[in-house]
Amino acid sequence: MTTLSEKAYAKLNLSLDVLCRREDGFHDLKSVMQTVSLHDTVELTVGTGQPWKLICGREDIPCDERNIAWKAAKLYCDAIGKDPEGLTIRIEKNIPSGAGMGGGSADGAAVLRALNRYYGEPLSEAELANIGAKAGSDVPFCVWGGTVMCEGRGEIMRRLKNCPDCIIVGCKPEFSVSTPVLFKKIDSVQILKHPDNDAMEAAIEAGDIRAIAREIYNVFDPVVSEDHPEIGHIKEVCRRHGAWAAQMTGSGSVVFAVMPDMKSAEKAAQELKKAYPQVFITEPV
Ligand code: C5P
Repeated sequence: MTTLSEKAYAKLNLSLDVLCRREDGFHDLKSVMQTVSLHDTVELTVGTGQPWKLICGREDIPCDERNIAWKAAKLYCDAIGKDPEGLTIRIEKNIPSGAGMGGGSADGAAVLRALNRYYGEPLSEAELANIGAKAGSDVPFCVWGGTVMCEGRGEIMRRLKNCPDCIIVGCKPEFSVSTPVLFKKIDSVQILKHPDNDAMEAAIEAGDIRAIAREIYNVFDPVVSEDHPEIGHIKEVCRRHGAWAAQMTGSGSVVFAVMPDMKSAEKAAQELKKAYPQVFITEPV
């Protein structure tokens, strides 16, 4: 029996544009994604001689074959034609779920990396990303991590220069958003504003965090804000404490804000904690 441990970093969408609905029902996106230090820890025990098991300790997360981490493990073993002879996946959850931070996808990518390490790295990072795409649209990005321009469903990736260091406050309102429902909703509305991904890329290339902050934009933000005033409230609190940008990530509901320094981040977090249970301070990794 061997036990391996992997960190599963959360993601933020610095930009998120929905380009079109495709024949297969998915949407073509263009998004700059960024991993942040907030992470789950995934522990994998291989060769237990027992049926597969997933332990997570959270009622809102499925602990069986529906979990992206389980799907990723199955896809990996099928791809290399190996039977791990019993597998236990233990996930210590810190990334909020239903949050737009790719928590499930991060766990899936961590499982792929851990299994690949266990079997002596038979697959390249690109091959792991290909396998991951079958488990969930954000898994390929989570395999890569860092600062990446993602297109298609998310699987067409181009690495950008690392986002410069900065302090980010994140806050999850009480409600969660269903990703498929939100994608359906965006088909029925006219998208009035799109992020400028070229300007975002140029700002990242220049390592200019103020310019990056100016370009942060997610087309889902106004769609969710319309039904949930909490989004606007969280942004307002962060802006009052000096935020350079405040925007929802992915399909929500977490709002993140780029803060000028740790002191203002702590003050914003302190105020947000009075109204919202899940508040954190993080940074790009
Ligand atoms: O791939 P994932 O499981 O993250 O996708 C969840 C749902 O979100 C899909 O079933 C689809 O309805 C929607 N989706 C989409 N276009 C994408 C990613 C997700 O329509 N690029």
